Amino acid sequence: MKDAAPQTVYLADYTPFGYGVEDVHLTVRLDPGKTRVQSRIRFAPNPEAQDRDFFLHGEELTLLWAKIDGAAVTPQLSDQGLRCTVPDGPFIWEAEVEIAPESNTALEGLYMSNGMYCTQCEAEGFRKITFYPDRPDVMAVFTVRIEGPHPVLLSNGNPVDSGEGWAEWHDPWPKPAYLFALVAGDLVNHPDRFTTMSGKEVELNIWVRPGDEGKCAFGMQALKASMRWDEEVYGREYDLDIFNVVAVDDFNMGAMENKGLNIFNSAAVLASPETSTDANFERIEAIIAHEYFHNWTGNRITCRDWFQLCLKEGLTVYRDSEFTSDMRSAPVKRIGDVIDLRARQFPEDQGPLSHPVRPESFQEINNFYTATVYEKGAEVIGMLKRLVGDEVYAKALTLYFDRHDGQACTIEDWLKVFEDVTGRDLTQFKRWYSQSGTPHLQVAERFENGTFTLTFKQRTPPTPGQDEKLPQVLPIAVGLLSPSGDEVVPTTLLEMTEAEQSFDFGGLSERPVASVLRGFSAPVVLERAASRQERLFLLAHDTDPFNRWEANRALAQESLIASITGAEAGPDTAWLSALLEVVKNAAQDPAYRALLLGLPSQSELAQALHQRGVTPDPDSIHAAAEAHRQTRAELWQADLPMLARETEVTAPFRPDAEQAGKRALGSSLLAMQSRLDGGAAAQAQFDGADNMTAQLSALTSLITIGAADSALRAFEKQWRHDRLVMDKWFGVQIAYAPPAMAVEMAGLLTEHPAFDMKNPNRFRAVFGALAGNHAGFHRADGAGYDQLADWLIKLDAKNPQTAARMCSAFQTWRRYDADRQARMRAALTRIADTPGLSRDSTEMVTRMLG
Ligand code: ARG
Ligand code: ZN
Repeated sequence: MKDAAPQTVYLADYTPFGYGVEDVHLTVRLDPGKTRVQSRIRFAPNPEAQDRDFFLHGEELTLLWAKIDGAAVTPQLSDQGLRCTVPDGPFIWEAEVEIAPESNTALEGLYMSNGMYCTQCEAEGFRKITFYPDRPDVMAVFTVRIEGPHPVLLSNGNPVDSGEGWAEWHDPWPKPAYLFALVAGDLVNHPDRFTTMSGKEVELNIWVRPGDEGKCAFGMQALKASMRWDEEVYGREYDLDIFNVVAVDDFNMGAMENKGLNIFNSAAVLASPETSTDANFERIEAIIAHEYFHNWTGNRITCRDWFQLCLKEGLTVYRDSEFTSDMRSAPVKRIGDVIDLRARQFPEDQGPLSHPVRPESFQEINNFYTATVYEKGAEVIGMLKRLVGDEVYAKALTLYFDRHDGQACTIEDWLKVFEDVTGRDLTQFKRWYSQSGTPHLQVAERFENGTFTLTFKQRTPPTPGQDEKLPQVLPIAVGLLSPSGDEVVPTTLLEMTEAEQSFDFGGLSERPVASVLRGFSAPVVLERAASRQERLFLLAHDTDPFNRWEANRALAQESLIASITGAEAGPDTAWLSALLEVVKNAAQDPAYRALLLGLPSQSELAQALHQRGVTPDPDSIHAAAEAHRQTRAELWQADLPMLARETEVTAPFRPDAEQAGKRALGSSLLAMQSRLDGGAAAQAQFDGADNMTAQLSALTSLITIGAADSALRAFEKQWRHDRLVMDKWFGVQIAYAPPAMAVEMAGLLTEHPAFDMKNPNRFRAVFGALAGNHAGFHRADGAGYDQLADWLIKLDAKNPQTAARMCSAFQTWRRYDADRQARMRAALTRIADTPGLSRDSTEMVTRMLG
């Protein structure tokens, strides 16, 4: 953790390990302060490797003894691991180490959470459990014996045998150490079964703390749906007798795909109508699917090295997005994903933390579990599928599974499969993996003699370490509409490969209106000088649901920017009237209508201004957004009650897309209503709510208008026993606070007895919310920056991973005025200068300052 000079690891330096591992036997004797881990590992020289340096990773381990072929040895120890002289041929390595899970606050390796033992090994946590070649290309069969006085003792694979105080597990599938897991505790299960497509019976369990058993049914249903879906869509069957899922309160991320023993942040699996919002249900369904899908894309086929992380993550995010599209509404899912991409990935790719989907160097791999690797990585898979077509994609995936099952692979292996199936050369396409930054795509159009010509220019601004950019392959989906709104050219995929390229559409009797980049067919910034009239036309007539939404989004952005810069006094009321007509169309999916009511976030507006060469002022952005919402509510006043009635759900609560869509629309309308009635309707909804979606949306409406004091007290009283609901209570008060109060509110809440900085969910609830309150965080006096820096410094000493991740709140610092820049730079410098700062945070702040 506290290296003097952090080392940089390069993709170009990859060499295989000198030894292969035949099998591993572990015996883990649990004890909070003195856990003993005994290992017995059969090594053999790796014929593919030259280097015979026998180095085993190991960090924060006390070595008690080591033997080779039964004879005691004395390895050379460092704080990174050990080195030892070994025989020429195969040999058996044995060792025993001691570790202290109770004092592990980094939540990496073996640690304790509310009295239960659990592990997190990806990416490099196994080295905190025992000495081992902790790299994904070393795959082995594990047998694990756990000893401890706990009713439930779990590890990977199938159960072999158990007795009073012990259990033994065997995982027949060779796996890298990052997929190792162990859980022990006083847990209860929600059991079920699944019959696979070939008729094998699988036992399913979701394990939780006593008291949470009522919150497992939805996750279980999602698990079974995922198992069926992967059989039907990808032909992938589950491969063990048992599949266990465990919920853990203290967890650095969402969840982890350990073989046969997925470990979840309890926020990503526990659900009930009373305690979870529709958004929570949808996220849980997606994460359950994501981790389950990793069994093939990640576990059966894993990564050769951590530079290849997107091989499993991009593909698995892509697969879970397909699953959600099938389970729910495909257009709604796509729009949600694009909103998220622009909110999280674009700022990353357009700032100092920009890196390729496949990075070429790192100091701390945990810093590269990013929106770029995951979400842009998934966009790259989506483009590949669009370019080759659905059938060829399916063929390529079948070949990928056949060819590489049981292997640790690279992006080259992945692309070679597509080259072999299609006969195409994907050299240029591969730039999506190596070139960082978001391409900007300019569009010009011309109509002459019945031919409509679209001319595109692509340009990617320089990013850290990459000054020159080459043209990328852009799949651009285009449709053409006649002026009366008929589709004259249905969706056509243009394949752009040059820096500048034109495409003709002939035989047209009149000038069409183009709908460009349908479905957001490539992750680019589209620069199109479309007229307001044209956007209104597309909002009314486009047959592509994404682009109808996009036209509206552009109108919203233009209107807001015009008021921020003072070009217009207030919102574009003609557009708002047109939008109201669309929103009133009861034939449209309510979820889609709710999306049309969303506005670009204040941070997104700041980025848009910055791209136009205007220095964003967070206070004016906030004021314009507030004024816009107020005007819209007043303008639509007469229609709100009727629209609200239409969103009423009378059937019992179901967390499905249909009911969730109605509630989403209802929540937007309630927020508008609150601006008109002083919160009467929101208070009534809050008082009568029988589900968390209704309760929380009422609460946020009340906070926004400053009328939530009694509701906040009632909420706390009702939910003080429920950690996950209390995370919401902490978060909303800060996220929706008036900007001038956000910092004070966050400070006050850190004094609350239920604030616990060691719990990542609680820390994120407070400081994630602060960073998300744009004008509050960017207060002119710098108090937001100072407060976040103070807490990140405190957290870094305990939990480097979560601290480093949250440092990215500062990544957009160069967008703002000189004074704010200086204050953010000072905050970052203060973090950087902290004695003993972790390698994780050091790398992040150095890149941001660099
Ligand atoms: N593989 C896990 C997932 O995608 C995430 C692991 C994140 N690990 C980390 N060290 N950040 O679900
Ligand atoms: Zn994943």
